[in-house]
Amino acid sequence: MSPISTRKHGDILIVTSNNPPVNALGHAVREGLVAAVAEADGDEAVKAVVIVCQGQTFFAGADITEFGKPMQLPMLPTVVDIIENCTKPVVAAIHGTAFGGGLEVALASHYRVALPSAKLGVPEVKLGLLPGAGGTQRLPRVAGVEKALEMAATGNPIGAVEAHGLGLVDRLIEGDLEQHAVAFAEEVKDIRPIPKSSERDDKLAAARANPQVFADFRKANGRKFRGFEAPEKNIQAIEAAVAKPYAEGVLDERRLFMELMTGRQARAQQYFFFAERKAAKIDGIPEETLPREIKRVGVIGAGTMGGGISMNFLSAGIPVTIVEMAQEALDRGAGVMRKNYEATAAKGKMTASQVEGAMGLLNPTLDFDALADCDLIIEAVFENMDVKKEIFTKLDAICKPGAILASNTSYLSIDEIAAATKRPQDVLGLHFFSPANVMKLLEVVRGAKTAPDVLVTAMQLAKRIKKVAVVAGVCYGFIGNRMLIPRQMQAMQLLLEGATPEQVDRVHVEFGMPMGPFQMSDLAGVDIGWHRDPNRIENIRDALCAIDRWGQKKGAGFYDYDEKRNPSPSPVVQGIIDDFRAKAGVEKREISDQEIIERTLYTMVNEGALILEGGFAQRASDIDVVWVYGYGWPVYRGGPMHWADGEGLDKIVAGIRNQLSRLGGDFKLSDMLVKKAEAGEKFTR
Ligand code: 3HC
Repeated sequence: MSPISTRKHGDILIVTSNNPPVNALGHAVREGLVAAVAEADGDEAVKAVVIVCQGQTFFAGADITEFGKPMQLPMLPTVVDIIENCTKPVVAAIHGTAFGGGLEVALASHYRVALPSAKLGVPEVKLGLLPGAGGTQRLPRVAGVEKALEMAATGNPIGAVEAHGLGLVDRLIEGDLEQHAVAFAEEVKDIRPIPKSSERDDKLAAARANPQVFADFRKANGRKFRGFEAPEKNIQAIEAAVAKPYAEGVLDERRLFMELMTGRQARAQQYFFFAERKAAKIDGIPEETLPREIKRVGVIGAGTMGGGISMNFLSAGIPVTIVEMAQEALDRGAGVMRKNYEATAAKGKMTASQVEGAMGLLNPTLDFDALADCDLIIEAVFENMDVKKEIFTKLDAICKPGAILASNTSYLSIDEIAAATKRPQDVLGLHFFSPANVMKLLEVVRGAKTAPDVLVTAMQLAKRIKKVAVVAGVCYGFIGNRMLIPRQMQAMQLLLEGATPEQVDRVHVEFGMPMGPFQMSDLAGVDIGWHRDPNRIENIRDALCAIDRWGQKKGAGFYDYDEKRNPSPSPVVQGIIDDFRAKAGVEKREISDQEIIERTLYTMVNEGALILEGGFAQRASDIDVVWVYGYGWPVYRGGPMHWADGEGLDKIVAGIRNQLSRLGGDFKLSDMLVKKAEAGEKFTR
């Protein structure tokens, strides 16, 4: 049965799409839309058409699962042209998200009405693409060039109210969408000529007179778009809309679309779209498992982590009881939270009353027993097993039955922590990434005894607080930090052999990471995990910490920093490195950029394979989600495992073997990696 059905209401033909979950514009939908337009054209009694969707949303875009396969006709660009050329006025009735191809259908329609809650956007750039069904040509004609540039190149949607202000939505509908859309169609059914977006050029005039807008836009967003191919091509397509007649502009759009579609970045970004959604699925848990109800959250520790964690819940409207040992620390923590919210409000992203609303949900206290009525308690104190065990023993004594007890540990064993309680089934790890109110990743650490409904609750709660959750098993550092270990070790070793911090960092930044290992160390704090004995100097890091070079917070770390925190290479650090090299009897040599990649990135891929081998990640794509959301791995490379597949696993194995003598005695080459390389298999495809 076709997902598209038609029925008449007086002289209006109502065309309804029912293609759950998101009314993606797959083959059957496209075919149905063409047939519906033919029906309207062929039926004299029909005076206008309304296109409306059932379920949660208007068409949310092309069907991404069809990408990379032979496309069945009609293609979407043809379908939208057929809609625009309908001889009766077509009204798109929008709710939910009119995204990508969905917005292109709406733009080809002659009128657009929408619920105020609807969102309109062209997120193709996030899939490494551009709107390929006339969107880059029609959107600037309807919404104006500057808005179209912003929407297409960033992929961020706008709300229907803003769209109405821009003329992208003709009328906002309060109440029953279909009913009002039909009434609207009645109003416009006789207006001639029928307005076509492709024939307008009034909104192009300003950019035609001042093509500098494109250069300005590129300049303003250079940093954000660094390394990505798609934003630039989106800009070029809109430039073509301004510079050329519509018929020529769409040809440019098609060419640019195909260039992107056949490239490695689009494949990686589309892979990642599904990787992110797959991460939410937990293996080995009955589908009918119901989550526990979370009405109040407790957080232990009001430091940077505890505060950031609390803000996630407060922002989602969930009350938080936060516990500290001393009033001063408690006040400081609450003060930082307020300051962060106020900074967000100053940027116009929150109102003053929203700030008060969030802070009003916070209950700061020194009384540990106040956690007794919390449904979830997250411990966020420093990394010390004895302290954590003590806290969990206390929690076990006071928390209500069924409360979920979580640790935000980055490295320690959840099983050992759980064993300090009589309810290990209620214990799990919730590993937030710093800054916890900003970073999207949440590692959900599944202990040996963690109950299925506890995991389901954690995954659902993650969605509620707008995090992307990935399930990890209990091993040192879980997924993300465990993979960081070989990278940091090799980066340090490379310094001894002749590389500089600047070189290692540059290779990582050129690869697409937001910063290299030493920049990251300076930002996070060189002293994290340091033994704190300035007389015990066993490596370069100890030497830096001993002379107070703890990173940006001290104005010095692997780099020197000026008052504005601009880094410069440090002769002091170079001296320390040279000293260690001499003591270790290592000969200084030229290190190639390729060697840095092989030593720091190939070894990470190997660690990822070991994690999979040990069953500590459910699937290779979960590892990629961790690295993209937790550490800024460039999404256009898909994540370490997808990237390794693209490089060729045989090349990765050969690169590692080539470096084997330098990787250190503890290095273990993954059997899984070798076997896959030999069999010509991949991790993620
Ligand atoms: N094609 C195929 N499947 C899609 C899809 C699409 N465009 N969009 C979503 N889905 C699937 C998801 O994979 C998921 O499947 P699952 O349940 O099996 O995991 C299911 O629909 C629900 O999706 P979400 O979990 O993301 O649901 P949410 O309610 O959180 O979000 C949404 C809904 C905002 C519509 C979000 O899914 C989204 O942003 N989708 C992508 C929109 C998009 O990128 N559109 C452009 C497509 S490219 C295009 O149109 C090219 C054209 O210009 C030629």
